[in-house]
Order: sequence, then C-alpha cells, then structure tokens
Amino acid sequence: MRSGKLHARAAVFDRLLQPIHRWIWGDVERRVQKLLRFGETEIDGGRDILRAAELTSDPLLRRLYLEHAVDEFRHGLMFRRRAGSVLREFPPNSKPTLQLDWPAPGGHGLDDLQLEKESDGSLLAFLHLSEKAATSRFTIYRDVMQHDRATQAVFAEILNDERFHMSYTLTHLARIAPERHRHHLWRARLTRLWKGYLRLATALAGAVGALILMIQYFIVLPPFAWLAKRAARKEPRGWFPVASERNGSLRRQY
Ligand SMILES: [Fe+2]
Ligand SMILES: [Fe+2]
Repeated sequence: MRSGKLHARAAVFDRLLQPIHRWIWGDVERRVQKLLRFGETEIDGGRDILRAAELTSDPLLRRLYLEHAVDEFRHGLMFRRRAGSVLREFPPNSKPTLQLDWPAPGGHGLDDLQLEKESDGSLLAFLHLSEKAATSRFTIYRDVMQHDRATQAVFAEILNDERFHMSYTLTHLARIAPERHRHHLWRARLTRLWKGYLRLATALAGAVGALILMIQYFIVLPPFAWLAKRAARKEPRGWFPVASERNGSLRRQY
C-alpha cells in the first residue's frame, strides 16, 4: 500500500457542499449513473496518461506515468463493477432523477490538455492540481457514503492511489523544474480556473437560453395563437367561389 508524502484534506469549498453531495449520492439511480460516469472518466484519464508516458523523454517519469495509467484503469473498473453491484443490490427506481455534474464532478480534467503541446513540467503541474482536486472530492464522497459501506470502501481504496498521484507529481515537478515549478503551478491553476469559468458560462448560457425559450413559448406566443384563432373564426367555412379578378388563367407562378 502506498502513502503520499502530502496529507490531503478536503478543500473548504468541497466541505461546504457536503450536504449537497450527501443528497446527490443518496439516490440509488443517481449513484449508479455517477459511478458509471466516474468509471468512464478514470479510464479516459488512464489513456491520456499512457500517451504522456509515450511522449516523455524522462525514463523515471515514464515508469511513474505507466504505473499511474494502470491505477486509473483499475479505478475505472472498480467504479464500473461497483455500479453493477449497486444495480443488483438495490431495485431500480423508474422515476427520472436529476443528474448533477457540476457539484459532484469526477475525472482528472485531462481533456482540457493537448498532451503533445505540453512539457513535462506543465503536465506534472496540471496533473498535481487535478489529483489534488480529485483527492479532495473523493474524501467528501467517502465521508457521505455511510449508507453504502461497499461504495465507501471503493472511494477509500481509490483515495490512497490519488494521494500518491498527488504526491509524486509534485515531487517530480520540483525535480525536473526546480526553478520554475511555482510558475508551472500558477499557470496550471489559471488554466483550470479559465476552463472552469468556460464550463460554468456554457452551463449558464444553456439555462438562460432555456428560460428565454420558455418565456417566448408561454408569454409571447399565446397572444399570436389567440389572434390566429380569432382570424380563423372569421373565415367562411367550406368551399366558396374565387373572385373573378383572381380567377384568370395560370400564366405565372404568383
Ligand atoms: Fe483515479
Ligand atoms: Fe489519479
């Protein structure tokens, strides 16, 4: 079993959201969906880290990246397996449930990076921050899972690896870029902040768009529908003769 040098604790923001996390994970269907999605993003993250192992010229980092990628694949399988067990253990509920990704995200955010363009330093800085965020969130998820001990054990086991990932990425960032490691960390922080803002802005734009469409549908359109119905009532019913001035032979389209 590994233990990271850094002792990770949940961030204050994640702690504040603990009641929301408890509510999100309390619903069985939502739990299954989340576990499946976590499984997918962990496996995707593992694939990206495998690519990073191919790209690095540092032999020690390559070995660590390979180990890291294997861990992420394993996490993905653990989440998937647990999702399957939860489905078997608890009868599925047919009512639709609200899926909330923003307050309870998973994954490592590696989709935000173009690995080919990153240096070892910038990738390690990004990985360190992503693993730190994942460690903080998984700590909360483990703590709110008292009603499902088996899922809690999955989070507890994965947390050990995430702590190690958080620790080795920082140690090796300081090794390969002793002068510039703070610069790399700040750059990675700002990039994550910017991507986070873009995600939030996109979600907000979607919500505002839906609201405007709803207002148009329920407030702007009804008067037009009423006017159209009133005009239709004034129209004579059935067939009626066409006025003689409009009844010429068809020589043109209009
Ligand atoms: Fe992981
Ligand atoms: Fe990880």
